[in-house]
Amino acid sequence: MANVAVVGSQWGDEGKGKIVDWLSSRADVVVRFQGGHNAGHTLVINGVVYKLSLLPSGVVRPGKLSVIGNGVVVDPWALLREIEAIKAQGVEITPDSLIVAENCPLILPLHSTVDKAREEARGANRIGTTGRGIGPAYEDKVARRAIRLCDLADEALLGEKVDQLLFHHNALLRGLGAAELDKAELMAQLHEVAPKILPYAAVVWERLDEARRQGKRILFEGAQGAMLDVDHGTYPFVTSSNTVAGNAAAGSGMGPGAVGHVLGITKAYTTRVGSGPFPTELLDETGDLIGQRGREFGTVTGRKRRCGWFDAVLVRQAIKTGGITGIALTKLDVLDGFQELKVCTGYRYKGEIIHHLPAAQTAQAEVEPVYESFEGWSESTQGARSWAELPATAIKYIRRIEELIEAPVTLLSTSPERDDTILVKDPFED
Ligand code: IMP
Repeated sequence: MANVAVVGSQWGDEGKGKIVDWLSSRADVVVRFQGGHNAGHTLVINGVVYKLSLLPSGVVRPGKLSVIGNGVVVDPWALLREIEAIKAQGVEITPDSLIVAENCPLILPLHSTVDKAREEARGANRIGTTGRGIGPAYEDKVARRAIRLCDLADEALLGEKVDQLLFHHNALLRGLGAAELDKAELMAQLHEVAPKILPYAAVVWERLDEARRQGKRILFEGAQGAMLDVDHGTYPFVTSSNTVAGNAAAGSGMGPGAVGHVLGITKAYTTRVGSGPFPTELLDETGDLIGQRGREFGTVTGRKRRCGWFDAVLVRQAIKTGGITGIALTKLDVLDGFQELKVCTGYRYKGEIIHHLPAAQTAQAEVEPVYESFEGWSESTQGARSWAELPATAIKYIRRIEELIEAPVTLLSTSPERDDTILVKDPFED
C-alpha cells in the first residue's frame, strides 16, 4: 500500500480539489506541504460547495487528520477566518482534527503589503501574484528572519525577532519613501492571534511518523502546479515554493520514501492565471469558448484564466521533473463538440524542433508550438463512468496523450461530481 501525493502538472487549477477529495475519503491523513492561501480548492460534496484555500481537503470529512506541514506559509488570520467559514457550513474543526506544524513560517500583514507594492512597481512586468504575501513570507523564511508559529509562544524571543524583521523591512520602506512599520502595532496583532492559533500547533513530523508506523494512509495535497515550481517552472513567473512531489517529504518532515504514487492532475487542455509564457495560449474565439465551457475563473482572485490547447511537451517535462507516476485527466467534457482538437507535440525554436521548454526567459517567450490535429467528438462525455461510455475519438485523444507524455492515465474525471470518475488503477494500491 502506497501513500499518494497529488500535484498539479500544469499551471495549477487542474481540478485537484475533486480528486483530492475523492482520495481523501479513503485516506486517514491529508497533508498540505507547500504554498499557502494562494491556493483555491473547490469541493462539491452531496451538492454542497466548500471553498478551501489553506485547509487540507480532508478537513470536510469526519475522522480524518488534516495536517499543515512546515513547508506551508501560514497566515494565521486567514486560517482562522477559513476555519470559521467552514465551521459555519456545519463541519467540525478542532485541534484533534487539524494540526499545524509548529515550525511553519507565518505570513504577516506586512507580507501582503510588500507583495502588492512590488507588483505595482513592476508595472507591465508584474508576475500576477495572488497578493497574499506568499513570496515575501518565503523570502523571510529563507533569509532566516521569519516569525514561526512556535515563536508566538515565546514572548521574550518574539519581541527580538520582530525587531530583526522590522529592521530589514523598514530599511526597504525608508528607501522607497514609504511609511515605516510600527513594532507595537505588529506585536499587538500577534498577541491577539496567538491564543487562537497556538492550540493547533503540533510536532507534525512525529505525528506523521506515528501514522506511518500504524500503517495509516497518507495523502499529500499539492497546490499550484509543476510549471509554477520555483525551480522547474516558468521562472520568474512562478510561485515561491517547490510545487513538485519531491517537496512533499521536506515540506512535511518525512523522508523521500514516504511518498509512493505521485498522481499528476492534468487538465485535458491548458490554462494559466497571471503573467508569463504560455506557448499554446489561444487568444481567439476558441480560447474564449474553452474558458466559458470550463468556467475558467480563479477560485481565490476571481481572475479570468488564459486558455489554450493541451501542451504535451510541458506535461511530459512535469512528469519527469516531478516523478509523476500516473495522471488524473480532468475536464475532458469541456472539449465535447469541437470539430478539431490540437495537441502540442514540440516547439519550433530558432529553426529547430525541440521537445522541452528551455529555461531561459526569452526562449520561453519565443518558442512556437508544433501541433498534431485530432478529430473531435460531438457526443457528451460529461458524467461518463466507464470507457465504454466514451466516444472512440475521445479515447484516441487520451491514448495519444499518454504516449506523448510517457505516463498512463490512472484516473479520468468527467464532471465536478465525485462519482463521475473512471478509475484505471487505484493509486493507494500501487
Ligand atoms: P503567488 O503564489 O501569489 O506569489 O503568485 C505567483 C504566481 O502563481 C501567479 O502567476 C499566480 O497567479 C500563480 N498562482 C498562485 N497560486 C495559484 C493557484 O492556486 N492556482 C493557479 N495559479 C496560482
